[in-house]
Amino acid sequence: MNTKLIAPSMLAADFGNLQRDTEMVNNSDADWFHIDVMDGHFVPNISYGMPVISAIKKHATKPLDVHLMIEQPERYIEEFAKVGADIITVHYESTVHLHRTLRQIKDAGCKAGIVLNITTPINVLEDILPECYMILLMSINPGFGGQKFEEVTYQRIKKLRQMIDAQGLDTRIEIDGGVTDKNIEKLVAAGADTFVAGSHVFKSDDPKDTIAHLKTLANQ
Ligand code: DX5
Ligand code: ZN
Repeated sequence: MNTKLIAPSMLAADFGNLQRDTEMVNNSDADWFHIDVMDGHFVPNISYGMPVISAIKKHATKPLDVHLMIEQPERYIEEFAKVGADIITVHYESTVHLHRTLRQIKDAGCKAGIVLNITTPINVLEDILPECYMILLMSINPGFGGQKFEEVTYQRIKKLRQMIDAQGLDTRIEIDGGVTDKNIEKLVAAGADTFVAGSHVFKSDDPKDTIAHLKTLANQ
């Protein structure tokens, strides 16, 4: 089993204090920065792009996990790599030639992953799984932070865990949306090992302490 990782989502950070919040993550038990890129087409919301990612990268001492919620992500892979992405995940639903896009991510020097929306069947991953460092399962409809976790996620994790084990792989399973200290242990039990947390971390009284608590719960 992979070690459990925590990736605070910078979407919930205070953009007026981006350096402060980046340093908070540096000094915490978090493992990665989760970076949500939204284009207003693939999802209804627009978040941020290259200049903001560069600003975070300038201060970050941990890997950037860049989650692209954009149409035709293949148009921008090299640019995201250039501004400092370490891991790039693209939605299955956003690109026609997924295999080519994953190769493009790896050729740009990054680790590659696929994201599935809640209603996209797990079995579409069967043949492409060996190409992936990680699979991100959405546990909300993408586009906004602070939404309620969808319970169907548990059975989806179990299915994916079975598929990964059956192929003898060590692909990470990342969960994104509504992750808190109330559900993280159940998510680990279902077979997930990588956790994005936005509001739960940044809206808490002590974000650093909240990250430490999540990390402890996940690694029990
Ligand atoms: C939403 C993003 C998430 C979001 C999670 O589309 O992919 O990463 O920041 O936020 P919370 O943890 O608040 O649900
Ligand atoms: Zn995300």
